[in-house]
Amino acid sequence: MISLRDVSYVRMGTRDLEGAEFFARDYLGLEVAERRRGAAYFRSDARAHTLCYFDGDPTDHAVGFEVASESELEEAAASLEALGHAVHLGTPEEAALRQVRAFIGFDDPTGNRIELAVRPEMSGQRYHGTRDAGITGFSHVGLCSTDLARDEAFWTKVCNARVSDRIGDAPLLRIDEVHHTIALFPAQRQGIQHINHQVETADDIQRSFNFLRQRNVRMVFGPGRHPTSTAKFLYFEGPDGMVFEYSSGVAEIADELLWRERQFPAEPKGFCKWGAKPDIAEFRDDDD
Ligand SMILES: [Fe+2]
Repeated sequence: MISLRDVSYVRMGTRDLEGAEFFARDYLGLEVAERRRGAAYFRSDARAHTLCYFDGDPTDHAVGFEVASESELEEAAASLEALGHAVHLGTPEEAALRQVRAFIGFDDPTGNRIELAVRPEMSGQRYHGTRDAGITGFSHVGLCSTDLARDEAFWTKVCNARVSDRIGDAPLLRIDEVHHTIALFPAQRQGIQHINHQVETADDIQRSFNFLRQRNVRMVFGPGRHPTSTAKFLYFEGPDGMVFEYSSGVAEIADELLWRERQFPAEPKGFCKWGAKPDIAEFRDDDD
């Protein structure tokens, strides 16, 4: 069993690094941690970086998860190879680009690029966003899935994810007490489906809704409230069509033994108890 400690970072290619940096800094509210040739690194919390845009193919996405030690990394590589996944052992140069001690890369069954990393760097300095978006940290990712049952089995049987709830057949998966750190959504493609940052309060969500709408950022869902995690949310579109989410008040599951996963409908009310309707392909029913 691969034990994921936390989601650490996302890496995304873009053909417009300057535009992506503008969005991440001035609109999303992240802090520029570092610029290297062909890449920009952003902070959202105490970590050295949680998002990296690099010059490249905009469909080239990777999600990094922390594991506890190099011996756990070696065990993970062996078990993934035994299951038929091609495992890339990160070189020291590639690890330095990710600000981690060591990492491996592989594709999940849908083809999402996943990296497992040891000792991701903390910054040592307090994060302060460029604008006051109220961000408290990078928190979860939605991943595309071409076969939800197969991918749920991968994340729960090969990794340590547990199903907190399902919306239709889409599982919201936790790896610690936070209601979900990975969510799988039905798609005919691979890649990151959305990127979540937590914000302090519902006021931050409303303020960002106005701030972003006044700057013609495309709103795709909300403000609303998830009946699953109880979080209040706002989803909007960033560079290269990527969906970003702010949310506040995500539930924590303190008692593993008492929690029973719940089933929610694969329709707007399964995603929002306030009646907002998503303009996000992976959140919509085919006949919606
Ligand atoms: Fe989310």
